[in-house]
Amino acid sequence: MINIEKLTKDFGPFRAVDDISFEVKKGEVLGFLGPNGAGKSTTMKMITGFITPTKGDAKICGESILDAPISVKQKIGYLPEGAPAYPDMTPFEFLHFIAEIRGFTGEDANVKVNNAIKKVNLESVIHKPIDNLSKGFKRRVGLAQAILHDPEILIMDEPTDGLDPNQKHEVRELIKQMAKEKAIVVSTHILEEVHAVCSRAIIIAQGKILFDGTPDELSARSSFHNAVNLLLETKDDALAIEAKLNTLSHASSVEHAAAGDNLIRFFVKPKKGVSILNDVNELAASNHWTVKELHVMEGQLDEVFRDITTSSSDAKGVQLT
Ligand SMILES: Nc1ncnc2c1ncn2[C@@H]1O[C@H](COP(=O)(O)OP(=O)(O)O)[C@@H](O)[C@H]1O
Ligand SMILES: [Mg+2]
Repeated sequence: MINIEKLTKDFGPFRAVDDISFEVKKGEVLGFLGPNGAGKSTTMKMITGFITPTKGDAKICGESILDAPISVKQKIGYLPEGAPAYPDMTPFEFLHFIAEIRGFTGEDANVKVNNAIKKVNLESVIHKPIDNLSKGFKRRVGLAQAILHDPEILIMDEPTDGLDPNQKHEVRELIKQMAKEKAIVVSTHILEEVHAVCSRAIIIAQGKILFDGTPDELSARSSFHNAVNLLLETKDDALAIEAKLNTLSHASSVEHAAAGDNLIRFFVKPKKGVSILNDVNELAASNHWTVKELHVMEGQLDEVFRDITTSSSDAKGVQLT
């Protein structure tokens, strides 16, 4: 449904987006990840027709953003960064305005506005000026505007940025609900979002794609993938315990970190392709250690993210925020 072909954007001598290509199919939620300044918003602005690419094209359901800009915009719902709206209008007025701009009139417009209001639970504030609404409600107004025409494609730029945990959860649930029927692209710099809502992740830094795969493939890149996290209450020397853990034949390395009063956390990384949970468990039992936590780790996504966005020679010095 979305086919991005070698999109490039220059601002003067500065290349913000550099030869990006990817596809998104129906039912997919693509997480578009990257540190600040990576080129996420610029890419989304090109796909949605806000700015023209310097080079390349994007096809939306087979139509080019360059050749059929209006038809493409009819198929896309777009939530720009920060969910801009007219602060003096109420959500009711704003959504009717958007309906009119999109060419809906009469009962058709009323039905579309009411459906959007219901979908994002805006009922309680529809007649208050947008300026007076909380951040969470303002974001929902932006979402309502984006889904008003029930588009096949949804492009959302940092939809959960700046929201509190409950509001983040609500927005993620909404995205998941809509995912089946649409092709969705969500940009974020929050890694937990990838596992929470995305079926696929693309990581970009300095305008280039550095990773394209599933959230699980992303986790598997972590050196902590399948490592055992062991939290012990102990007065013993951490290095002595670490040495014992290191004797396990399936262990490749062991690290530890202080975790509070008499608490030490150990990370036991297994050799490739083997499980080490039982071995650690048995060692803990035979040594009568007081185990506070024992579990297998998915991986540490922030470690992978840092690794991917800073190890490429093109992306040296990228700062995480
Ligand atoms: N209109 C513009 N003029 C000049 N530089 C821009 C403009 N828009 C974005 N940039 C630059 O392009 C890079 C990518 O920006 P952006 O796409 O907003 O990144 P992200 O959304 O990933 O944080 C940044 O270095 C930004 O400063
Ligand atoms: Mg941005």
